[in-house]
Order: sequence, then C-alpha cells, then structure tokens
Amino acid sequence: MNGYKRTHYCGLLTKANAGETVQLSGWVQRTRDLGGVVFVWLRDREGMVQLVFDDTVCDEATVKLGKSLRGEYVVTVVGEVRERAAEAVNTQMATGEIEVVVKEADLLNKSETPPIYIDDKAEENETVRLKYRYLDLRKPSMFNRLKLRHQIIANVRSYMDAQGFVDVETPILTKSTPEGARDFLVPYRGKAGEFYALPQSPQIYKQLLMLAGFDKYYQVARCFRDEDNRADRQPEFTQVDVEMSFIEPEDIQTVIEGAFARVFEAVKGIKLELPLPRMTWRDAMENYGSDKPDTRFDMKLVDVSDVANDCGFPVFADAVANGGTVRGINAKGCADMTRKQIDALGEFVKTYRAKGLAWVAFPQGAAPKSSFNKFLSDELLEGLKTRMNAEEGDILFFVADKKAVALQALGALRIDIAKKRDLIDPNRFDLFWVTEFPLFEYDEEEGRYVAMHHPFTSWMAEDEQYLESAPDQVRAKAYDLVLNGIEMGSGSIRIHRSDVQARMFDMIGLSQEEAMHRFGFLLEAFKYGTPPHGGFAFGVDRLVMILTGSDNLREVLAFPKAQNANCLMMGTPSDVQDVQLKTLHIQVTE
Ligand code: AMO
Repeated sequence: MNGYKRTHYCGLLTKANAGETVQLSGWVQRTRDLGGVVFVWLRDREGMVQLVFDDTVCDEATVKLGKSLRGEYVVTVVGEVRERAAEAVNTQMATGEIEVVVKEADLLNKSETPPIYIDDKAEENETVRLKYRYLDLRKPSMFNRLKLRHQIIANVRSYMDAQGFVDVETPILTKSTPEGARDFLVPYRGKAGEFYALPQSPQIYKQLLMLAGFDKYYQVARCFRDEDNRADRQPEFTQVDVEMSFIEPEDIQTVIEGAFARVFEAVKGIKLELPLPRMTWRDAMENYGSDKPDTRFDMKLVDVSDVANDCGFPVFADAVANGGTVRGINAKGCADMTRKQIDALGEFVKTYRAKGLAWVAFPQGAAPKSSFNKFLSDELLEGLKTRMNAEEGDILFFVADKKAVALQALGALRIDIAKKRDLIDPNRFDLFWVTEFPLFEYDEEEGRYVAMHHPFTSWMAEDEQYLESAPDQVRAKAYDLVLNGIEMGSGSIRIHRSDVQARMFDMIGLSQEEAMHRFGFLLEAFKYGTPPHGGFAFGVDRLVMILTGSDNLREVLAFPKAQNANCLMMGTPSDVQDVQLKTLHIQVTE
C-alpha cells in the first residue's frame, strides 16, 4: 500500500475500470456486516463506491478492520474493481454497476458520530447544517454546487482575458462608496474616531482606473453591505465588476452578454441567442409591475382605469378621480381558488401598501362572482372581461391605488400566484436587459430625489431639458440584466466631467461641502482628462444560485451568513478583548 495516496476518486469509477487495482481514500458513509463479508460505502468529493471486505479474498486483520468501521471514519484501501452481477446492480448509485474488492486497508482516523447526516437526501434543520458547515460541505451536492461556481468564475475569467480586460485588485480598506446600503466600518488604532469602510463595490476605484487609462478593467470582487439578509442577499458577496472607456451602453452589454453566453454554454450546454432581448424600464413596470420582471409566465398587468372611471364602484372610481389608477391581472384557470385563498392574497397585497384586492371570478359553468357584486353592473363586467381577455375558469384581480402602489402590489401578486399555482417552468432561463431606468427616484422619507442607480450615472441627452423642471421624466443611461425575475447585475454610463458631476450632486441635495468630503478626491481627479466611460457589475452568487436551481444564496457559498448576518459556525460577530477596544479608542455603550 502506497501510504494514503489515491489512484482514483470513488465516485468516478466505472465499468471501464473493472479488473484494475485501485487505491481509494475517503470517508465511510455506511457499513453492512454480513458475517464473512462486510460492505462499506466509501465517499469522497466525487461520490461513493461500494467496498467489499471478504474473508476469502483478504486476511483476517483486514476483515476485522472492515467490521470496526463507523460513519465518517477516514480510511484508505487497495482493491480490485469488479463488475457486479446483474442482480446486484444498484441503480440508485452512480457507481452501482461495480464494487471494489478490498485487499488491504488502513484506518487513518476515527470520527465521533456526526451531528448531521452526511446525505443529500436527509432533511436537516438549516441552523444545524450551518453550525457544522464543514460536515455539510462533505455532501456531494454541496461540493458540486461549489464546483459549478468555480467553473462559472473560471469561464468568466478566461473570457474576459480573451476580450483584453485586465484584472486589477482594489482595496478592501476604503471609504464609503455610493451604492446606498449601510457600510461596514473598520476602526484603525492610528486614528481615533476615524474609520475605513469596507467597499460596497469597487465603483470609484474602477472609474479612477479609467481615468488612469486602463481602458478595460474587470475584477472578481468581494463586496460588503450591511443590509437585511434575504434569500438573494448576503452581507458579503461577489461581483464580476467591469468598466470600459470610450464606449456606449451597447458595447458593455455586448461584452456582458458574451460572458453569460460563454457561462451558459459551458456549464449548462445552453446556447443563448444574442443579442439578448431589451425591455424598457417603463414597459417592465407597466406590464409586470417590476423592474426585474419574471417573464417565464404571462399574467401581464392591464390598465383598466378608463373602464373603471365613472363605473359606479366607488373604490375604482375614486382612485381614478384622485389621479390614481386601476390595474388588473388575469389569473388564467385559477377561478377554483377558495375564499380563504383569495383572502390570503388580499392580505398579501396589503404588505405592498395596497388598500385591498378586488376580484371577479368566472367559474366553469356558473355565473361570475365578485368581491364587489353589488357594484358590478353588466356594463362594468363586460368591460373588464373584454379588456382582460377573461374566459370561463379565470379569475381577475384588481388594485385601485396610486400608480406606483398598484403596479408594485400586482407585480408581487402575479409572482405569488404563479408560485402557488406552479405556473413557472423551472427549466427555463429568461435573460434580458432592462434599459432606460429613471435617473432619480423620490425618497418619501427624506423628501428629496435620490439617484436610482448611483450618483455617478449620466442621463440621456434628450432628457437633459427636464433635469430641473421634471426630474421624474429624466432617463438614465443605466441598464440592468435580469434572469428569471432576479436582478443579476446593473451598470451605467458614468458622468465624466466634474461640472456635470457637481450638477448631479446638487440635484440630489448633496451639499458642496458634503460632496467634497465624500467624493472630493473624485471631483479633483475628474479635472485631469477623464475619458467617457461606463461599466457593469453582476452578482456571481445570484448567478450560481439560479444555475444550480437553488432557492437561496446560502446554498452556493461555502461559509454563508445566516438570516441575521451571524456565522453560526464561528459565532461571529463576537466580542473582543477590552484591550483591543482600547487600542482602537472604542468604548462600547450597550
Ligand atoms: P449594484 O448595487 O446594482 O451595482 O450591484 C450589482 C449586483 O450585485 C449583486 N448584489 C448582491 N448580491 C448578493 N447580496 C447582496 N447583498 C447584493 N447586492 C448586490 C446583484 C446586483 O445586481 N457598482 C455598481 C455597478 C456598476 O454601476 O457598475 C453596483 O454595485 O446581482
């Protein structure tokens, strides 16, 4: 036996190896002791294979060792690959047509009984999985997801390299960047009361690299944002970050599309049709009630304000009279929903600030039913039916409210219904651009306009005339890439002149002093011949999540944070010694 160096991975052995002598090293999955013969499933990162300890083949000591094995013991064995007899083939196991007849074996380490089953089929509590992540990662499914992540990044890197992009690392200890989330701050012993911020993205650095003339930059960059965790958000995540000079939006989009096409082909065998479809932000909002629409199913939003105007149903008529809108969706074939289910949808839209949900159902072979029967004149019923293309079996839902509320509530509702009624084809990938985002959005809390993307984004030349008079109407040179209803990435053409940048800061109410304090170095830099430039960044974690069919980012990160940003394995965040705090001039008040 040659120490513990393996010749093959367990999970990669096939019938073609039959007759070969192999050395395998790995972990015991399970054992079955039949007296003279012991069967052991041995596992490594590529999968499992059955070992046979047979007292007619190996010596007594080896069989004894086989009998002593327990789950997660680490062993190395030398044996011969043998094809199994037809009746012994295990069709549930990738290597089920063969087994390895052990000649020699060595126990390398024992293990206590692990706190989780290392089995893809075991339904474990996620808290326990995260606490013992190193054991959870032993599951082949976890390894396979992280391997796919590696393949995606490797493909992106080789593609970007071939396109002439240069990978430049940028600092992690930096200054607050403008993505708009809360920063993670890092104190420094040399400067009492002053802090670094961890980068929310390399945004400013990449713009400075354009100024420096680097022309085509990319980085697989770690980003940090102190925001509430969601299924598609982690406090620490990875972007493929890109910036280019002397380009138009289409040039960046072409590069990014090419990267996605390369990845889809390499890891999924799917050929994307390029160029990808484009949808304006306005169309996305009007038709899907979302700037990241899930287009894998239809159920578009329909404007029925004109039908609802003066219709006699006060909820509809008042909304329109007050400058609002009435929008509807047609949940095709869903008229069989129970009252309880419909009421739950009503509660659901309230979480989007809608005041209520009106509905009209067209049950098979029965008269239409409605939440506003009393006000549903024949004329209104016909009007809604025609506009919404309703047939027997359908149910229509309506929200009458301010436009933004109605769109958002129905946008969320259509997804909720589609999920509940299984209307989404999980094998479909809908990837497209959303373009012409508004430059500003109004922040109700702060009572001022803020940059929708970030304040370095430039506006469309034809909308400049509205900058001061009608900021809502100004479109940005900004674009998002959307995959299956999830924002994959976003980017923009940047402002490259300091006077224009100052005007932008002014528009969003950033005072001269504050602008100088936060971004003074950038305004200074812009004075020295900044080229026109723009870029894009997409979330690697989100892409891996979708391509692996996972439903949250924790499944595609080796060591993710739990819901409340804790690492359950290491117990972070955690307290530190008083002397450390003192060195950093920090006093904890609570
Ligand atoms: P943005 O803030 O839109 O743009 O981020 C780009 C992409 O990064 C991913 N992402 C996240 N992924 C996981 N967890 C998070 N908390 C998280 N936040 C963002 C998303 C998102 O689309 N500097 C600009 C890009 C540019 O203008 O070039 C930026 O960071 O997939």
